[in-house]
Amino acid sequence: MQSDLDPKWGEWSPLHDPNILAHFQARTTDVLITTAPKAGTTWMQQILYQLKSGGDTSFRSIDDVVPWLELPRRGIHWQVLLARYEQLDNPRVFKTHCTYRQTPQQTPGVEHANIILSSRDPRDCCVSFYHHVMSMTDKALQHVGIPRPQNFDEYFEQWMSFGAWFRNVRGWWPHIGDRNVLWLRYEDMVNDLASCIERILQFLGWPVTDKVRPVILEHCSFAWMQQHDEKFATRFENGELMFKPKRFIRKGQVGDHKTRLSPEQEQMILEKAKKDLPQDCLDFLGLG
Ligand code: A3P
Repeated sequence: MQSDLDPKWGEWSPLHDPNILAHFQARTTDVLITTAPKAGTTWMQQILYQLKSGGDTSFRSIDDVVPWLELPRRGIHWQVLLARYEQLDNPRVFKTHCTYRQTPQQTPGVEHANIILSSRDPRDCCVSFYHHVMSMTDKALQHVGIPRPQNFDEYFEQWMSFGAWFRNVRGWWPHIGDRNVLWLRYEDMVNDLASCIERILQFLGWPVTDKVRPVILEHCSFAWMQQHDEKFATRFENGELMFKPKRFIRKGQVGDHKTRLSPEQEQMILEKAKKDLPQDCLDFLGLG
């Protein structure tokens, strides 16, 4: 399907179309949210949309206003998707789960998009993704080609061997100091969202009035987002939810892995992180 493309854009899957990535034209005003799955992607979509819109909540789905860049849509050609992206008003904001190499942040010689990366403790991402898979409808699982695991241990093996968390963090770490990159930690966002939002505003230079700041903080709170879960759960192209009701904005806690991971499983994650990542990265992530 993508035979004439540079293999760096990755292979086609129901969640990843390399054609979109290879032909996307980034703009300097763009913001690309890049995360490992379950590291606060949807939260960052909501934060950026709230900042951009001054607190608008009229959207049906967050993906309508902050699209998932590389996601193929059934029955819609990738060129049509790219044409839709071209029509979006600046500043455009997209979500991606791409590695560093796959992220189309620069249109050669011309533009450089802003990157906002959110990372989260891999142990919590692992447990969160288990609930993600268990909360998807049968139809949605079939659509994305993921079998529902029989039990947590089976799931854990799959999560480790898929390795998305490790790939994402390893690829991006050398770029933490790049001028166009802002790296936030989920744990800091839980601890002090207002300060993290200030860092985002400073980084992007977007104007937000004092009047609207408390409104934005409320719309980005766990309680508000959980109450409006249906705005945040992924949908099929026809609008049908891919998740069982009220399951997407789940718990939002730091350290939730303690409820699920055995000491051996926790150790396996930490050991792989130590093998894959340099010490300064482990220190930054609180895994040192
Ligand atoms: P849990 O499953 O641990 O609750 P992603 O959007 O990358 O899939 O990440 C989903 C995780 O972010 C879920 O974690 C979800 O509950 C959490 N999350 C979403 N909105 C949040 C918010 N406003 N505050 C804290 N956590 C939030």
